[in-house]
Formats: sequence, C-alpha cells, structure tokens
Amino acid sequence: MIDVETIREQFERHYGIHPRLIVRGPGRVNLIGEHTDYNDGFVFPAAIDRATYVAARPRDDALVHIVAVDMHDEDEFALDAPIEHSADHPWSNYIRGVVKGLLVAGHTLGGANLLITSDVPRGSGLSSSAALEVATGYAFQLLNRLNILGEELALLAQGAENTFVGVQCGIMDQFISALGRSDHALLLDCRDLSYRPVPLPANAQIVVCDSHTERRLSGSAYNQRREECEAAVRLFKRWYPKISALRDVSVAQLREHEADLPEPVRARARHVITENDRAQRSAAALEAGDIATFGRLMNESHASLRDDYEVSIPAMDALVAAAQAVPGCYGSRMTGAGFGGCTVSLVETGAIERFKHDVAAAFRQATGRDTTIYVCRASDGVGRALPE
Ligand code: GLA
Repeated sequence: MIDVETIREQFERHYGIHPRLIVRGPGRVNLIGEHTDYNDGFVFPAAIDRATYVAARPRDDALVHIVAVDMHDEDEFALDAPIEHSADHPWSNYIRGVVKGLLVAGHTLGGANLLITSDVPRGSGLSSSAALEVATGYAFQLLNRLNILGEELALLAQGAENTFVGVQCGIMDQFISALGRSDHALLLDCRDLSYRPVPLPANAQIVVCDSHTERRLSGSAYNQRREECEAAVRLFKRWYPKISALRDVSVAQLREHEADLPEPVRARARHVITENDRAQRSAAALEAGDIATFGRLMNESHASLRDDYEVSIPAMDALVAAAQAVPGCYGSRMTGAGFGGCTVSLVETGAIERFKHDVAAAFRQATGRDTTIYVCRASDGVGRALPE
C-alpha cells in the first residue's frame, strides 16, 4: 500500500518542490454483471482500497511532464500542439487521452508536472487504467478549476479509452472509480447511469485472487464479443422491432427464441440476458440480507461466462473452483473482462484465514502457480488523497 507522504517525497525528489495536490483514483472489483455494461444493462461493482495516485503542480508553460514511478519512465507533451499517441510510452496514452478530451471539449488547460504511482495490480482486471484516467481527469479539473466531477468525469475517462487508447470498453470501470462509495457496491444502470448504493454485508469480505495470468483487453476478443452482441440485437429485432440493446430482451423472450439463433450468437445472448437478470436479483438479495442467494448467483455468473460467453480460461476456472470449495465462501467468479486476471469471492469474515490457505494450496496443486490474495474494502471514488 502506498502512503501520501512517500508520494510527496518522490515528487519533491523529482521536481525540487512539493506537489500542489495529490489525487487518488481507486481500482474496482465487479461483484456481478459482467459484459452487460456495453449492452445497456446493469453492473454491480465496488471501488477498492487500491488506487492510482496522481501528484500534480502547475507549470508556467504549456507542457505536461509526467514521472511514472512504477514504470521507471518519464514522458512529456505540449498542450499547444496536437496530442499524439505515444508508441514509446504506452502508459502515457491514458493521460494524453484524458488531456486531449478536455481540450477537445473546449477547456483551457495550463501545463503541469505530474507524478504517477499505483498499488492497483496492472493487467489483472482491477481497472488500473480506469483508475489512472479518472485520477488524471480529476487532477486536471482541480488544477484548472473546471468542476468536472462524477458522471461527467467518468464519461471523459471512458471517451479517452475508447477514442485515444482504442479499447471499446463500457462505462462501468470509470464510473465506479469516479463515484464509488465506501462499504457499498453500486447497482448501476448503464443505460441512463442512474445507480443505487447497496451496503455490503458486515460479516463478509470481498476477496480478490489474482491468477497472475496476463490478459490483453485491447486484444480482439473483447471487441469481437461486442460485435456478437450487436448481431444478436439485429436478430432479436425480427421479433421485437423496438429493442435497441440486449438489455431490452427478457429471460422469457430469450427462452422463446433462443433455439432460432445461430451459434455463437445464441450463447453470447444467453449470457448477457441472464447476467443482466442476475445482477438485478443479486443486488436485491444483498438488500434483503440474503447472502446465500447472492453467492449462488455469483457462481452461476461464472458458469455462464465460462460456458456461454467463453471469456474464462482454465487457470481462472481452477481458482474459482478452489474458492467455491472452501466452507464460508458464499460464491466466487471471474471478474472483469476475462481471459485471465482476477476472481472475486464473498467470504464470511471468520473463514478468511482458512480461505487464503486452502485456495492458495488448491490453486498451486491444480496449476503449479501461486495466487496473490487481497481482502478488499469497498472505498470511496476519486478524490484528494489524505494522509493516513
Ligand atoms: C472491462 C471493461 C468494462 C466491462 C468489463 C466486462 O472491464 O472495461 O467496461 O465491459 O470489461 O464486464
């Protein structure tokens, strides 16, 4: 975990003066509702107590200088020239994309010295990139007094990822990083961005297990799934001309027509439509204090992602199976885009130590690999980082 004092010292070491501000943008874990956001559906994520930090201080010129502590790298670009994609510093594109988005929207920005560091594991499916985008946007809006917050900030960050980085992600990750609430998950309706904070159970913990398998979100598979969903919408329109997304198709309507759909579109639609239903039912279950039902829905979600959406991999299946076998684990599933990365489990507080031990041992036996296990606390969305 990173503390604010260390960041301040690092900034002073690089720039010879203290930062004007330090911003914290959290990573996230999605409890349920996977691959539903870009289908206008429901997601149920929480921001976590791991974050990307941006320390910043204005400059007198029109340059943005960035020190990326964890990458042992630096980059610089000008605000008064076209902002281009950087092939040499790929990490910098998240920052460049956000800054460009602000300029394109007509905001006037001053130059800045930045220092970036993060304790969100990179490439693990915990949205380190959304955390960086949201923290960058928040830092620039503070430095330039723009008052771009909440939903607007989330959309700015998503726009950077879609148009500048080139990943057609939905809104979930940036939204929860901007608007997360401590000790709550948010049931977010990705169609109109309305949301409902749901308190997490007091006697259970969110546990994230990293399979340490490299994932590549910008790989073609994510965008391919989106296209398959669009194909499914076109087919469903034959029966329901008014629909505009898979979110508009009910489970009953799916059952009526699924036999008429070709594969793989049938399986993809089945995942999205049932997952959208599970996301809503799981939030209601938590609100009713029914953790057992919530856990069962998590398990069903994993099976659906594995068998119908085909975004899991054997190592994640092994990690989920190891978790589900531990007494006191309510449910477990892969989280995020898939193709590797992390799982999320809901575990009774008294069973955490046994969970850690048993899951690590079973995963090692099944795969020969080690997992890293994080017991997470749901945290607030982006804001100024405060000293401990
Ligand atoms: C990634 C994307 C999100 C969402 C998830 C899958 O995290 O960034 O928008 O689509 O995958 O649920």
